[in-house]
Amino acid sequence: TWTMLNIVEESVEAVRRQVGDGRAICALSGGVDSAVAAAIVQRAIGDRLTCVFVDHGLLRKGEAEQVERDFVAATGVKLRVVDAADRFLKALEGVSDPEEKRKIIGREFIRVFEDEQRAIMADGPVDFLVQGTLYPDVVESGGGTGTANIKSHHNVGGLPEDLQFELVEPLRALFKDEVRRAGEELGLPAAMVWRQPFPGPGLGIRIVGEVTRERLDLLREADAIAREELSRAGLDRDIWQCPVVLLADVRSVGVQGDGRTYGHPVVLRPVTSEDAMTADWARVPYDVLARISTRITNEVREVNRVVLDVTSKPPGTIEWE
Ligand code: XMP
Repeated sequence: TWTMLNIVEESVEAVRRQVGDGRAICALSGGVDSAVAAAIVQRAIGDRLTCVFVDHGLLRKGEAEQVERDFVAATGVKLRVVDAADRFLKALEGVSDPEEKRKIIGREFIRVFEDEQRAIMADGPVDFLVQGTLYPDVVESGGGTGTANIKSHHNVGGLPEDLQFELVEPLRALFKDEVRRAGEELGLPAAMVWRQPFPGPGLGIRIVGEVTRERLDLLREADAIAREELSRAGLDRDIWQCPVVLLADVRSVGVQGDGRTYGHPVVLRPVTSEDAMTADWARVPYDVLARISTRITNEVREVNRVVLDVTSKPPGTIEWE
């Protein structure tokens, strides 16, 4: 729309004024906020912006490619990709506690990002850090500016406080729906623009139990099937998000093909919500649930049971960890 075009243009202009002929860096997460923020800054300062995508190996099927291929094609952004899956998996070895997982993932993220930052600064100084802070975040944190103040719970991109960067926050005046419209205006991939909320620690907190490569592969397949069927049924806008959770430490007996199996259950957790503070379990039509269940148990080796979470929040949280 015309107004959204104006908002984007003004915001590009404001970034240009702020950054001058300086350089900036931005961590991309795969989510819409960092993508739109980066796209705006790219328009303003071109390749004096360097984006960093830390692939922690905990994203869903196709999401890394979305960033590396589709987002870059759409924006022309200069991107450094770090394939850090091995490193994250190693650090997560033997860990089952959810908060411990979050801490480890956050810590590793910062370390990897700092390495990248050093490499980028070898080409010359960088004074600006781009962040996808939205208006509700600004209000929540008391309107402060100038420092990297991110709720530790709510983003893997939680960067160290002592980074000597001036923040560039082109989305500070916008609400989520406006960010999505800006993303459309900027021509970003629809799958990114319309992505439902997804936690920074990713699939790492959707495996109840230790996170391993094999378990991630199972969960990634099951999750992709659930997302595909929910989309096909036209439910993307009705559902806030639908975590698919692998109960990796639970086994149950089943019968698949020609014999008895002893596999893992996955939980479907479709919810409706306005702001994730409270939520209700989504009344997904039975035939859609049936298709998801049939496909997952047919197509994902090792999963022999699909269960539905019918708990509201409170008392249940949206995620299982
Ligand atoms: P809960 O499980 O607390 O989730 O009801 C509320 C919303 O927050 C997301 N979530 C996270 N997002 N890092 C994030 O960036 C996290 O550690 C995290 N934990 C939960 C969750 O997906 C839901 O949208």
